[in-house]
Amino acid sequence: MSSQLVAQPAWTIKDYLAVRDGSLIINGVDALALVRAHGSPLYVFSAPRISANIARLKHAATAVKHPVRYFYASKANSNMAVLKVVRDAGIDIEVNSGGELFKALRAGFLPEQIIFNGTSKTDDELDEAVRAGIFSINVDSLYEIELVAAAARRQQKRANITLRLVPEIGTRSHIGLQTALLTSKFGITSTEVPEAFRRALALSDLLHVGGIHIHVGSQTPDLEPFAAAFKTMWEHSVALQRETGHTFEHINLGGGIPVNYLRDSSMADQLPEDERDMLGASLEPAAVLGAALAAARSSARETEAEHLLEHITILLEPGRSIIADAGLVLTTVRNIKRRPETGDVWLLTDAGFNLMLSMVSYKWYYHLISAARADAPHDTPYKVAGPLCDSGDVYFDIEGGGKLPDYRLLPKDVQPNEVLALLNTGAYSLSQSFPYNGRPLPAAVLVRADGQFDLARKRDTYEDLLTNEIF
Ligand SMILES: Cc1ncc(COP(=O)(O)O)c(C=O)c1O
Repeated sequence: MSSQLVAQPAWTIKDYLAVRDGSLIINGVDALALVRAHGSPLYVFSAPRISANIARLKHAATAVKHPVRYFYASKANSNMAVLKVVRDAGIDIEVNSGGELFKALRAGFLPEQIIFNGTSKTDDELDEAVRAGIFSINVDSLYEIELVAAAARRQQKRANITLRLVPEIGTRSHIGLQTALLTSKFGITSTEVPEAFRRALALSDLLHVGGIHIHVGSQTPDLEPFAAAFKTMWEHSVALQRETGHTFEHINLGGGIPVNYLRDSSMADQLPEDERDMLGASLEPAAVLGAALAAARSSARETEAEHLLEHITILLEPGRSIIADAGLVLTTVRNIKRRPETGDVWLLTDAGFNLMLSMVSYKWYYHLISAARADAPHDTPYKVAGPLCDSGDVYFDIEGGGKLPDYRLLPKDVQPNEVLALLNTGAYSLSQSFPYNGRPLPAAVLVRADGQFDLARKRDTYEDLLTNEIF
């Protein structure tokens, strides 16, 4: 068979995902070779794609001609090899726990590159963050101001803080991923903000107040929530400046830049319209920054505060938009059954929801292809399911809500041992995985620009299942 590149399917991505001789190719590496080397299921991450996604973000900062800093949201994927690629690409990092802080420091990020978010930080975590001297602890409540001050007192070190605001801004994302609603658990409300700043500024020997923060949520498909969030924060910063003379160094707009999960839209018409709009969203980072700045500028003109805006650095905390489309899960069909009553053909794979929690928690759509016959027509419907002992471990919407297609389209006559690939699974997959049903967690590989690949995580062994168990 010729090794010439044939017409590429819609899910391919230039310089990253392609088809050669029928096989799925990841930065020049045959997906089947990865499975032969490291088994199935397998997480695969692409270093060049991570770097390209970061380059796109940096380019956006240049385009808007305003100081911007990016803090990679490591909750999306905190594999150490991934963190090192992010660090080498020259951006900073956001963490959500002492564990992520530990990993960030171990991966070589400097304390002044680290933001710590979270609703329920422990005293130990606050002590670790203050002791390290990180760039910002994002404070989630009035009460937490006192907790951080207490940590600063214990550590005899001033803590850098940013107040997290919850302004009641909705988005068209999944309700579980919206984080700026008053019904969400996050942040300090707009009415509490003046008091929160007053309290924090009164503790200025212990706390340095650098700015204000909002995260509207993940996979936000429209510009308006970003603009509204930035404008709200901007107005609080002007009000504070006028009241106290204190000026912010930064305004943190959080994460949430969406990823287009429907690059291949062949199954999109089977999704409800709102789901299709959300999953198929694609916003240019420059447009997000541009909309935010435009909203603040018009408000600044009205209040004659333009000079203040120039001195404020915009912070963003992108997770998904850096790592989602840089990762995939390779899985193998282990079993097949044909139901005489329905005529359905069921493919039972080795990748369950314990490897991609969002598929069951949010009914998240990950495009599925055959890695072995990537250029064959994907025109045959199958019921596809994972290996777990739950009826809910299926690649469709078991609750009948129609949020996922009832059938997946794959080449005809799929048989056991065929390797499949779930695309765009780089974010919130490995970081949310768990060894349910006594299934050792898979290996992960990092594919490099030169077509080399390294193990980024060893496959768990049965012995690993016993780690920390006392018997
Ligand atoms: C505070 C905060 N910042 C950033 C992010 C990253 O969001 P995303 O992965 O959608 O960019 C999250 C995740 O929801 C978050 O909670």
